[in-house]
Amino acid sequence: MSKNFRVLASVAMAATLAATSACSSTRDAEESGSGDSGSNLVGIAMPTRSLERWNNDGAHLDGLLKTAGYTTSLQYADNKVDQQITQIENMINQNAKVLVVASIDGTALGPVLEKAANAKIKVIAYDRLINATPNVDYYATFDNYLVGKLQGEFIVDKLGLKDGKGPFNLEPFAGSSDDNNAKFFFNGAWDVLKPYVESGKLVIPSGKKIAGEEDWKTVSITGWKSETAQAEMDNRINSFYTGGKKVNVVLSPNDSLALGIAQSLESKGYKPGADYPLITGQDADLANVKNIQADKQAMTVWKDTRTLGDQVAKMVDSIVKGGTVETNDDKTYNNGNKVVPSYLLPPVVVVKDDIKTKLVDSGFYTADKLGL
Ligand code: GAL
Repeated sequence: MSKNFRVLASVAMAATLAATSACSSTRDAEESGSGDSGSNLVGIAMPTRSLERWNNDGAHLDGLLKTAGYTTSLQYADNKVDQQITQIENMINQNAKVLVVASIDGTALGPVLEKAANAKIKVIAYDRLINATPNVDYYATFDNYLVGKLQGEFIVDKLGLKDGKGPFNLEPFAGSSDDNNAKFFFNGAWDVLKPYVESGKLVIPSGKKIAGEEDWKTVSITGWKSETAQAEMDNRINSFYTGGKKVNVVLSPNDSLALGIAQSLESKGYKPGADYPLITGQDADLANVKNIQADKQAMTVWKDTRTLGDQVAKMVDSIVKGGTVETNDDKTYNNGNKVVPSYLLPPVVVVKDDIKTKLVDSGFYTADKLGL
């Protein structure tokens, strides 16, 4: 999507929303029975500011809804579950009409969302599914399983595994175990890589065994922290890569982990070039896109968070208007209590050669920011 079209799309989006929300909020609230009839407050609960993407997500959605005439409460919870629960409680007490929640721990929000339901407030799970509660009405995200599948397929292609190349030394990582997405990312990748691990073409010198359903948690990094991933990679290299043994490939589920892993490799003397390990990523964080330009990371799975914000803004408006909320997947995401109607957006692989066409021409980054 070209930059101009993208800008036009957002403006058009805001105008459409503005046209509907301003005039209809009072009427539709009574009809749709959602929240306090007079309010047009939308509560936006984001997990943290310390992981780059959430700043973009929050700002974009907040801007769209404000332009459309909604009042918003945009809150960040510093990756602290209790803080997020308190923030959501405040939004309920402020008579929010709709809550948009990117949860920190998808299993911890049952009680507070029951309060939301009692107040007839609709809830949209943003990017990460909220589990173990009937009180989540919709889910909007990217195709999380496909994110992992794209990372796995990238490794297979780049290493020539289909042509029988190998063995290669692989180190797998997974995301935060309290994040429902982490399982989908990992399973998407592992379903592609597992046959090569079983055939011995991919070897895991650190001995991490990924057999059972929950084994991905043995390689998960809590809170998606770069520094924790760096320390874990240091440990693995110190313990299992002696006598000249080299890391060849690292399955990193996202960019914040990939950054820590690259820093660990650098501190152990790895330099970009022929022997440098192939590292995957996700989110197209700025520092990581620069690492890709510097051959310190091989790819990232870009999720254009603006499109997620656009979709969620539309869902909010449909809820407020009492209209039909658009979803495109009513099967995949069972949160343990019910299948949550979902809207999935497409993730895209970005490598060094298409940074300009995908990230700059679409307006996600300016050429200036990437030194292009
Ligand atoms: C996931 C999200 C990813 C990544 C990660 C860490 O839930 O889908 O895009 O950002 O959290 O924030």
